[in-house]
Amino acid sequence: MASVSRKILVTNALPYANGPIHIGHMLGYIQADIWVRFQKLRGHECHYMCADDAHGTPIMLKAQQLGISPEQMIADMKAAHEADFADFNVAFDHYYSTHSPENRDLAEVIYGRLRDNGYIKTEVIEQLFDPEKSMFLPDRFVKGDCPECGAEDQYGDNCDVCGATYAPTDLKNPRSAVSGATPELRESEHYFFDLPAFADMLKAWTRSGSLQPEMANKLNEWFESGLQRWDISRDAPYFGFEIPDAPGKYFYVWLDAPIGYMSSFRHYCEQTGNADWDSFWRADSAAELYHFIGKDIIYFHSLFWPAMLKGANFRQPTNVWAHGFITVNGTKMSKSKGTFIQARTYLDHLDPDYLRYYFAAKLTSRIDDLDLNLTDFAQRVNADLVGKVVNIASRCAGFISKKFDGKLSQQIAEPELLARFQQAADSIAESFEKREFARAMRDIMALADEANGYIADREPWQLAKDPERQQDVHDICSMGIHLFRILMIYLTPVVPELAHRVQDFLNDEFSWDSAQQVLTGHDINKFKALLQRVDMDNVEKMIADSKQQNTANAASAGGTNWQTIRLPTPSLSTTLPKSICALR
Ligand code: MSP
Ligand code: ZN
Repeated sequence: MASVSRKILVTNALPYANGPIHIGHMLGYIQADIWVRFQKLRGHECHYMCADDAHGTPIMLKAQQLGISPEQMIADMKAAHEADFADFNVAFDHYYSTHSPENRDLAEVIYGRLRDNGYIKTEVIEQLFDPEKSMFLPDRFVKGDCPECGAEDQYGDNCDVCGATYAPTDLKNPRSAVSGATPELRESEHYFFDLPAFADMLKAWTRSGSLQPEMANKLNEWFESGLQRWDISRDAPYFGFEIPDAPGKYFYVWLDAPIGYMSSFRHYCEQTGNADWDSFWRADSAAELYHFIGKDIIYFHSLFWPAMLKGANFRQPTNVWAHGFITVNGTKMSKSKGTFIQARTYLDHLDPDYLRYYFAAKLTSRIDDLDLNLTDFAQRVNADLVGKVVNIASRCAGFISKKFDGKLSQQIAEPELLARFQQAADSIAESFEKREFARAMRDIMALADEANGYIADREPWQLAKDPERQQDVHDICSMGIHLFRILMIYLTPVVPELAHRVQDFLNDEFSWDSAQQVLTGHDINKFKALLQRVDMDNVEKMIADSKQQNTANAASAGGTNWQTIRLPTPSLSTTLPKSICALR
């Protein structure tokens, strides 16, 4: 049972404001949401923050291509993202934007402190410049022939054909991916953050034993190859915040992105008064701070971010928890196969609780990739949620309402069985706490099997025919409802919509500790279908829709690959070029 109330701040990585949310993204948001809902159900003070990551070259260029301002584009995108998250029941306490006054303010504070503490240096470097667009080109915006194998049309950082890595200046026949012009080398002064100055602190953190083992290993590899200073400035034109003492120089998007965690929380504190910002962020804060992220952005969160916080006299994260990547049917999400599924397309066809349960059933605390096999998905949800859990209630509820006026028995038929279900609370809580959701789901489903076994064994439907055995029918079916209720309390963080319907049905309000109470003599409502089975037809329609989005967009763009960004209201739908989506 929950003891002392903890103060916890949770974030998930901020999605880029240049594309729609897809089901791969959803893994992290759902994982963190389950963890947050669990903490809240236990009675802890827990705040879940997020925001759109709104800055950078890709966003600037995409808005140009659309012929709208970046401000307009990020506002539309934020509305679409928020609607997707809300409809998946990802309940952020606040969703903000890194393009906000609070974020500018905090970026300036942090940069100012880093500079005053001696961690910022400048140096003139050479970089490829697009003379037509008058802009410096990030590595991924330069294309050309691979210097190793000669393959054409490769990016400026590595070759897709032979895997070689190189500098964009090494490419043969280089050209700008923005204008097609031949880039030229130009000098510019850049601002650097002295990451190596934090090596000792980062090593100590890595040795503390609190990090995921895979993450600690990664960090050790990076320490061995040596930490490098970090280039934190970009030249105009750039969509971001100008560096205060450096006209024409902007903070690189990754400098202000994690500061978005702080600024979203600041805006939330100011708007709601629900928490005291300073007590969560000052260097000696006793509050807990956790960042959920995908494995591709470990470097930023485990090296740059703690070092920046330390150097600017703020607290460091309690932990950074990485998850793996989603594959669909065993391979990378693919547009042509229809497995690049946008969050909205999923929601058009399927219940969000299905995906939440499936992710939970497969998530561990490790950084492994997670395969969404769509056949397994349907079978698993149908077998577990519908066939095991909801089935307990549907077998018992009819008798309670028809024969016993909707009132549960005053007696507990099987005190020992009930006690075992209640005692499971501690180990299931421990699994949730440790992000071992798959283990929690296995334990819950094993209990569901027992509950079904109990009912099958007692056969209340047979006893119901015998006028002498009516009390037994009442007791057995009430027992079934008690067991069902306990399992649904444990499942509440995972399937909030189902849990909501169950609370309406049971005329009850769940907390984690309420599993220790029993609703003897309690009035329940008439049973309505709580959860439909997953229909494979709908899964197939979702795939067909995803495929069709891809071909429709390719066609409407006359050969180039375009992508429709679907906003909540269909009439707001905007067509955006895809080509820049994957670029930083
Ligand atoms: N904007 C940065 C994060 C800044 S955090 C200060 C970013 N954005 S993202 O939109 O590319 O990704 C958002 C999150 O989704 C990241 O945690 C990323 O790892 C995760 N995922 C993106 N694709 C994913 C899968 N296919 N599978 C699982 N998670 C994935 O990175
Ligand atoms: Zn090559």
